[in-house]
Amino acid sequence: MKNVAPDKDDPYFKEIEQEIRRRTEEYKVLHEIAKILHNPDGLKNMLVKALTTLVRFQELEVENKAGIFLADPENKVLRLFCTVGEFGQEFMEKEAEIAYGACLCGKAAISGEILISNSCFTDLRHEHKFDNMTAHGHYIVPLKSENQLIGILFLYTDESPPWYVRSQEILLSIGGLIADAIVSRRREEEIQHKNTQLSELNELKNKFLGIASHDLRNPLYMIKTFSEALKDGTVGELNDKQKEISGKIFNASNFMQGLLENLLDISKIESGKIDLTKETQDINPTAKQQVELSQLVADKKNIQLHFDPGDLPAIPYDTSAITQVMGNFIGNAVKFSPPDSKVLVTTEKLDSTVRFSVHDEGPGLSAEDQQLLFKEFQTLTARPTGGEKSTGLGLAICKKLIHLHDGQVGVTSKLGEGSTFYFSLPMG
Ligand SMILES: Nc1ncnc2c1ncn2[C@@H]1O[C@H](COP(=O)(O)OP(=O)(O)OP(=O)(O)O)[C@@H](O)[C@H]1O
Ligand SMILES: [Mg+2]
Repeated sequence: MKNVAPDKDDPYFKEIEQEIRRRTEEYKVLHEIAKILHNPDGLKNMLVKALTTLVRFQELEVENKAGIFLADPENKVLRLFCTVGEFGQEFMEKEAEIAYGACLCGKAAISGEILISNSCFTDLRHEHKFDNMTAHGHYIVPLKSENQLIGILFLYTDESPPWYVRSQEILLSIGGLIADAIVSRRREEEIQHKNTQLSELNELKNKFLGIASHDLRNPLYMIKTFSEALKDGTVGELNDKQKEISGKIFNASNFMQGLLENLLDISKIESGKIDLTKETQDINPTAKQQVELSQLVADKKNIQLHFDPGDLPAIPYDTSAITQVMGNFIGNAVKFSPPDSKVLVTTEKLDSTVRFSVHDEGPGLSAEDQQLLFKEFQTLTARPTGGEKSTGLGLAICKKLIHLHDGQVGVTSKLGEGSTFYFSLPMG
C-alpha cells in the first residue's frame, strides 16, 4: 500500500492531533506528580509540590488555588493540612476543621465520590459562605487508599468552567497516588518513631543491666569464695550433706558469675562503652594460647585438641576481645562434643581476611538452630556433655566483638555431622 501524507487541515486529523496532545499532557502530569510523591520530602512539602503541579495542568483549567484536608475517621472530621494559592484568614480559620457531611468536602468524605460544583452561590451543597466570596466552581476529589478515605483534595475553578472531559479519571488516579503516598509516609514516620523508642528502651535496658550486674558482682563473689572455703574444708571439716550443699552453692554462684560477666559485656558493647585497643600482630600466638588453655578441659573428656596454624600476615585486633571469642568457640566445641572425639582449630589467610575456624565432631546444628545462633540467650538443642555451664550469651558477645573489628562470624554444620565455627578479620 502506498503511504499518503495526512492532510493537516482535515478536521479528523486535527481531532486526533489534539487527542494525542492531551494524552501526552495527562501522562506528563501523572508522571510529574508520581515523581514528587516518591521524593523523600516532608509530607507537607511533598503535597504542596504535588498540588502546585496539578493546578498547572492546563487541560483542567483550574485556578492556582487548591488544598488538601486529612481525614480523621474516628472523629468524623476533615482537617485542613495544606493549601496553595491565596486564601484569606477567614477561610483558614473556618475551614481548619470541618465535619463529615458539611459543605462540599464533607459530603465527598461521606460519599467517597468525586464532586463537581458549578458555583458556590447556586450549588446548595456549598453550605459554607465567606465575606467577599467571589463566584467559583470546584473539583472535590476523595483521596482513597485501599478503599479507605485518607483525605479530600479540593481545586478551585471559574464559575461553570468547561469541565475537562477526562477530569474524573485523571483526578481520581492522582487522588489515589496522593493517598497512597500519605499512607506510606505515615507508616515510615511510625516506623521511625518506633525505632527511636526501641533504641531508647535498649539504652535504658543496657544501663539497668550494667548497674544491676555491677552491683551484684561483689556479694556474689563473697558467696562463691565462702562456699568454696566451706566445701573444701578450709574452715573446718563438714559432713557429707553439708559438703554437698556448699558444693551446690559454689556451682550456682559460679554459674551466676559467668552470667553476670556476660551481661556486663553485652551492656558495655551495646552502650558503646567498650574500648578496643587494636595492635597489629599475628593471631596464631593468641590462638595457640587458647588451645593450650582449653586442653585442660578437653582432657577431662578425652577430647583431642589439634591446632593447625596457617602462615598469616599481622592484622590489627584487640587481644583481649579476640581471646574471648576464640575461647568461646573452642570452649563450645569441647563443651558440646562427646568424649573421645576430635576438635581441630585452624587459621588461614584468605583473599583480604584472616580466618580462624574450630571444627568439631559434636552433635552439629539443624538449620533452625543455625538461624538462632549468635543471638542472646540461645541455649539450643546441643547441651553440654560434661555438666559445664551454659548461659547462651557467648556467641552473641562473639558476634558483637567481631563486628566491632569489621569482621564476620559464621558456621557450617549439619545435624549429626559436627560443626565448624569461624570468624574472619580484615587484614587492615
Ligand atoms: N560447637 C557447637 N556444637 C553444637 N552446638 C553448639 C556449638 N556451639 C554452640 N552451640 C549451641 O549454641 C548455643 C549457644 O552458644 P553460646 O556459646 O552462645 O552459649 P553457651 O555456650 O551455651 O553459654 P556461654 O554463654 O557460657 O557461652 C549453645 O547453648 C549450644 O546449644
Ligand atoms: Mg559458649
